[in-house]
Amino acid sequence: MKVTVIGAGNVGATCANVLAHNEVGNEVILLDIKEGVAEGKALDMWETSPINLYDTRTVGVTNDYSRTANSDVVVITSGLPRKPGMSRDDLIATNANIVKSVTENVIAHSPDSKIIVVSNPLDVMTYCAYLTAKIDSKRVFGMAGILDTARYRSFLALELNVSPKDIQAVLMGGHGDTMVPLPRYTTVGGIPVTELIDSSKLDAIVQRTKTGGGEIVKLLGTSAWYAPGAAAAQMVEAIVRDQKRVFPVCAWLQGEYGLSDIYLGVPVILGKSGIERIIELQLNDQEKESLNTSAEAVRSVMKVLDDMSVVA
Ligand code: NAI
Ligand code: 2OP
Repeated sequence: MKVTVIGAGNVGATCANVLAHNEVGNEVILLDIKEGVAEGKALDMWETSPINLYDTRTVGVTNDYSRTANSDVVVITSGLPRKPGMSRDDLIATNANIVKSVTENVIAHSPDSKIIVVSNPLDVMTYCAYLTAKIDSKRVFGMAGILDTARYRSFLALELNVSPKDIQAVLMGGHGDTMVPLPRYTTVGGIPVTELIDSSKLDAIVQRTKTGGGEIVKLLGTSAWYAPGAAAAQMVEAIVRDQKRVFPVCAWLQGEYGLSDIYLGVPVILGKSGIERIIELQLNDQEKESLNTSAEAVRSVMKVLDDMSVVA
């Protein structure tokens, strides 16, 4: 299996490193437009193989898509990250042009690949890739929910002083402050989280999750990469190993949850064909309202993209 990661910056390089370390695929191609950067990082990763004991080959290239040919999975991380004071949506114009040109190249060289978009604003960049790729939406989707639920689970683990391994959760909606963590579907070793934590503490954790990306931006002056890179790699692994994992993924909705023609985070089954099924939860009225609010926020950014006519 061959995996390509476009963008050898913080998220792309981290994703490639996790993939190689976990031997997800035989070959991981890292591509960037900055001369030598992908080559240097891929070589540095390969030099860890005798230490970390893996044999997945990492290969870096400068904008040479021929080397990515026939990839099974492509992860798109190329684009600007968010800087302090910048919203995800501010990134739209620059990143849409990057995502569009990258997707054209990806499809030309790997027409059968599954495409995972990471670039922000995530839901709308996934939409941009879908419009450009003109392939089945089951093969074009975005990474955000695994990261956002990981943040939620990690904060709960700290608060409850339990292993993060035992916390299961679902989170829906767009990748932004309107995302919808779902305490009703959160368990700790099978126990509903609401039985272990009082509601004010849980509310604070939900709020911290919603602004989790911004928390890191404030600290670092740029956006996160360890958790985003690992989250994208987990999606690649589910596809490459046909694991049928159940993850929140930014997927194209056609009537699910009463929503159509929109990319939004929902639970799906991820396997070798990409999105194998979208799971429809029985949301209560409040959860539905929050999801609709989040969908409206995503639609308003989709409209910005549509109005810019970046993608024909
Ligand atoms: P970065 O600046 O470290 O890396 C971006 C890389 O993309 C750079 O190396 C740049 O040279 C490359 N690039 C730019 N245009 C390109 C093109 N046309 N072809 C190939 N490579 C190109 O940024 P970082 O931190 O890796 O973030 C990447 C993107 O991922 C940003 O848009 C960021 O906002 C987003 N992100 C999304 C997350 C999510 O949950 N979906 C989480 C974290 C970041
Ligand atoms: C994050 O959530 C900024 O989307 C990026 O870390």
